[in-house]
Amino acid sequence: MVQHVLVTGGAGYIGAHACKALKAAGYVPVTFDNLVNGWQDAVKFGPFEHGDLADRDRLDGVFDRWKPTAVMHFAALSLVGDAMRDPGTYWRANVLGSLNLIEAAVAAGCLNLVFSSTCATYGDQDGVVLNEDTPQAPINAYGKSKQAIEQMLGDFGASHGLQSVIFRYFNVAGADPEGEVGEFHQPETHLIPLMLDAIDGRRPALTVFGTDYPTADGTCVRDYVHVMDLVDAHVRGLKWLQSGNGSRVFCLGTGTGFSVREVIDQSRKVTNREVPLIYGDRRAGDAVSLVCGSARAAKELGWQPVNSNMATMIADAWRWHQNGGFTK
Ligand SMILES: NC(=O)c1ccc[n+]([C@@H]2O[C@H](COP(=O)([O-])OP(=O)(O)OC[C@H]3O[C@@H](n4cnc5c(N)ncnc54)[C@H](O)[C@@H]3O)[C@@H](O)[C@H]2O)c1
Repeated sequence: MVQHVLVTGGAGYIGAHACKALKAAGYVPVTFDNLVNGWQDAVKFGPFEHGDLADRDRLDGVFDRWKPTAVMHFAALSLVGDAMRDPGTYWRANVLGSLNLIEAAVAAGCLNLVFSSTCATYGDQDGVVLNEDTPQAPINAYGKSKQAIEQMLGDFGASHGLQSVIFRYFNVAGADPEGEVGEFHQPETHLIPLMLDAIDGRRPALTVFGTDYPTADGTCVRDYVHVMDLVDAHVRGLKWLQSGNGSRVFCLGTGTGFSVREVIDQSRKVTNREVPLIYGDRRAGDAVSLVCGSARAAKELGWQPVNSNMATMIADAWRWHQNGGFTK
């Protein structure tokens, strides 16, 4: 029997890759997206329902039409700077939007939900390899909104039997190696696409924020996961729920950090081009080093970040960057 999975945010970067992975696994992904930051022509692997999480009637209609057996919830606003300037918009879109979605799912009897959370719920915990037992202490409205949704999922689990897998992760990178979908944020805020823009002249230079951090080369260190590995984990999380294993939190990372300079050096090697650079001051709120472990995901989901080496992530992103793009 065909199983539909409702994918909120399926027209965005990770959601579009998730739709591809779901289709490959035999599901029919139904994208629900308001296109505020997504792209209609990124929806390639199943039906598209244009709608906003704020619209409960619209959500009810979509559940009624497709009768999904599960939800993968990616739709969110996720720019930390915007969230600090305008927390109301973030709480409304992320928290109230998720509440609508969760209530609509419960009302429709769709009780399996995979949620895209973030390591931003941990806040600033330099030097620690984060895992599921690390206490959460978000320091911005984006991370707080995601933590609130995690707590909401727990409450609906206790009272309505909603089963959820929550994934926490940091920097997602790379693109579908077959070139069907890729990363296309406007505005772009992520290091690798910004750097590729600078390499091929779409922007004058890449700004490196801070060169005096207490790291080996003075720049910030981050953990990067290939988007194909990330969506593989999401499909595994869905199967985990459908096998009756119950609600669980998983961190997704490689456990290895890369400094900004290391990412730049690797890009030079992969593209064989220079990276025009500007050196700026530290940005307020940037932690020194953020790395996330994934022993639980390895043990319980059998997940391995097999594509998440830096050269592969940059090579896949570069191929997409040169040939890909989306329109509304
Ligand atoms: N990209 C990363 O590195 C990263 C890291 C950690 C967590 N995340 C989380 O993963 C998820 C996906 O991230 P992404 O990079 O693909 O973001 P994205 O902006 O590319 O995709 C989000 C999608 O959600 C849609 N959307 C937003 N608000 C909506 C609403 N109210 N109703 C309907 N659709 C709405 C947007 O139009 C967009 O297509 C987000 O929840 C984000 O917080 C991303």
